[in-house]
Amino acid sequence: MFVGTIMLKNVMIFDSHKLLTEYLNNHIHSKKTVGFVPTMGALHEGHISLMKQAISECDHLVVSIFVNPTQFDNRNDLDKYPRTVEKDVLFIKEHIDPNKLTVYAPSVEDVYGNNTAAKSYSYDGLENVMEGANRPGHFDGVGTILEFLFKAVTPDKAFFGEKDFQQLQIVKKLVEKLGLDLNIIGCPIKREPHGLAMSSRNEQLSKTAREKAAFINTTLLKAQSYFKKNSILKTQQLVHDLFKKEPDFTLEYFTITSEETLHPVTRKYKKHHYRGFIVARIEGVRLIDNISLPQN
Ligand code: PAF
Repeated sequence: MFVGTIMLKNVMIFDSHKLLTEYLNNHIHSKKTVGFVPTMGALHEGHISLMKQAISECDHLVVSIFVNPTQFDNRNDLDKYPRTVEKDVLFIKEHIDPNKLTVYAPSVEDVYGNNTAAKSYSYDGLENVMEGANRPGHFDGVGTILEFLFKAVTPDKAFFGEKDFQQLQIVKKLVEKLGLDLNIIGCPIKREPHGLAMSSRNEQLSKTAREKAAFINTTLLKAQSYFKKNSILKTQQLVHDLFKKEPDFTLEYFTITSEETLHPVTRKYKKHHYRGFIVARIEGVRLIDNISLPQN
């Protein structure tokens, strides 16, 4: 337990947002562009790819590590979420020059004071579908923490993975609505060698299930090629049929939406951009993935 700043193997870590802002304002912002990667820790290669992209586009990188309580709709998930700050910092250091890195790893009190509650946001309907509909309050929690972090760090660019594509679109909307001078950069999904999208949740799978879970990506790729010559409804049917043959999986949803509004669609229109979103469980672990669906 510390309050202030510590160095861990040459990496500067803050647990106070006031000191973080002061340090960035006094030593970094005037001379350097700042890239920001917010995380909840339990870092994997997917996070590292965001950080590498950030440091290739900016002079300095700020990473936050904070398990944000207000975005969990289930107390048990929050309690079980791994908290491995020291290991995470050492992992980042293997890939990023510590002289170009600042870490913010606060306590719940530093962020929320004595009121751990989410604010309420409207993202013009982006929040009412898919993960928003399945996890009530989730995107209010995400908005609350990101508004706080963006204001504390004031980065030039912030980097988010396309694995959480709905979150990425919502963050862009949040920034637009708050009028922040900040570029949100979407980064491609990083996959395990057999195709499973990287996620902290993959750790909860047995070795066999982790290999089998490549089926999710294989199915999305089949849907992508099928979609070019077939309707939305037929493509959805294809995915449902493929899952019926795989009893180890439970398909929670496969939805095709407009890439812009994220609203489910049933008819194709020329020149419109579509995306397929999937949530499936194996060994009880909820896995999400998505893919763009070009029309030709
Ligand atoms: O994607 C995540 O890990 C979280 O939702 C984020 C953006 C760090 C906010 O807590």
